[in-house]
Amino acid sequence: MRAALLALLPLSVYAGTVQPPGIPFKAPVTVATGFTARVLFSNLTTPRGITLDANQNVLVVERGLGVTAFSPAPRWGIQVDDEGHLYVSTAGQVLVYSYDAGSKTVSGEACVVISGIPPDGDLTTHTLQLQKEGNALKLLVATGPQTNIDPTARNPSSGRSQIRRFVLPAGCPATPLDWATAEILVYGIRNPGGFAFHPTLSNTLYVVENGASIDNVTDLTAAFVNDNPADEINRVHLGGHLKFFGFPDCTTLWNPTADPTGDPQYTTLQRGDQISLKLLPERDDAWCSDPKNNVPPALTLQAHSVPLDIKFYHPPKKTTDKSFPRSLHGDAVVSFHGSFNRSPPTGYGVVHVPFPLSDTYDFLIQATNLTSCPGKCIRPVGLAFSNDGRLFVSSDSSGEVCLNCCPKFATDTFVNSYQLSLRRNRRDIERIDNRVPVSL
Ligand SMILES: *[C@@H]1O[C@H](CO)[C@@H](O)[C@H](O)[C@H]1NC(C)=O
Ligand SMILES: *[C@@H]1O[C@H](CO)[C@@H](O)[C@H](O)[C@H]1NC(C)=O
Ligand SMILES: *[C@@H]1O[C@H](CO)[C@@H](O)[C@H](O)[C@H]1NC(C)=O
Repeated sequence: MRAALLALLPLSVYAGTVQPPGIPFKAPVTVATGFTARVLFSNLTTPRGITLDANQNVLVVERGLGVTAFSPAPRWGIQVDDEGHLYVSTAGQVLVYSYDAGSKTVSGEACVVISGIPPDGDLTTHTLQLQKEGNALKLLVATGPQTNIDPTARNPSSGRSQIRRFVLPAGCPATPLDWATAEILVYGIRNPGGFAFHPTLSNTLYVVENGASIDNVTDLTAAFVNDNPADEINRVHLGGHLKFFGFPDCTTLWNPTADPTGDPQYTTLQRGDQISLKLLPERDDAWCSDPKNNVPPALTLQAHSVPLDIKFYHPPKKTTDKSFPRSLHGDAVVSFHGSFNRSPPTGYGVVHVPFPLSDTYDFLIQATNLTSCPGKCIRPVGLAFSNDGRLFVSSDSSGEVCLNCCPKFATDTFVNSYQLSLRRNRRDIERIDNRVPVSL
């Protein structure tokens, strides 16, 4: 097991800053009518994964640094439940720490609960999701591809671009559970950056996926790839046959007429249709279009949006004017990190996705001047709803965590929790996962 160095760091080494209400975003944001947004913390080091513990402390993964806990000031109603576990993924393992929400401290050594996850690759991200089934506690772990377009991912035993499920043992296992022997839930999802169970259909998982960069695929022009392929929300029914979701062979059209002159072969097709990247002659457009071979997305998202997280909204028993409206019950929110190679840029916000799915979604918050992005723009990554129905959003390159709610933003103050956080020595943490890797 890799030694984890836990230390209490003095305040001086930590630049993260709790912000009073009214502090502007680093770059202006536009917020949907009826909603408000406020910067809670800034100066964080690449904040990525975010979650709330039983006491509604906000835990944020700072990439390359560790996990930091922020406490609500005491007047914010808190519940006490002082025992828990903190699950963190590194490149090749999942570690579990004993975590106390009352003192926001971790204690003891890390237990390596899962090992053998492919540690390398283009996107070494392992999103985690706990699932309670009866008395069993299960953990879902995702992997990305080895390369942008990874031919090994078409074989489920590659362990790439898929989600596996583990039944967690009661205590720390003497030998970590092995990635190779875990149940495979789904494969062919290039980068399952975020996923969540549907609130009422407990066997249905919704998974966001970033399409591959197809700049170098034969016959595709620059104008076509500027608007293709679509990003996706995939619907995975657990318990049936193991299904293939297309990566690396098939991808999804966003704009079939992006280049009617250079790429006329797509102009008769529609948004959401499946096309082949022609890696294998037998996996052509017709093969990709057959849902028996390749499951199409449940919802197509604009090309280059880069969705990284999805959360469903369960309103609290009593909503207040600080909560998301009750009418959004059962709908989802998705973070869009934003494009890095599209002109003009797109994404850079958080969208509301109505359920049951139609073919639309709308922005709750978005960078106001997209042409200035990435610049100092908001780049949403992790999403978490608090018990009282407010949405916390981490934005990595701007170093901010903000709160989005409606119709009135909370004026509650937070205090920095320097007491601890889970901090490890820098070398050790370098490979800590960079995508929503924390689950409580
Ligand atoms: C961020 O931290 C720096 C020092 O590390 C400080 O000068 C600056 O005022 C902080 N910014 C905010 C918005 O608090
Ligand atoms: C496409 O090829 C160029 C030149 O070989 C390379 O620099 C670039 O990284 C490739 N892009 C992708 C998305 O694979
Ligand atoms: C938006 O950003 C671009 C690029 O930084 C800048 O040239 C332009 O003036 C900005 N537009 C507005 C309305 O601020």
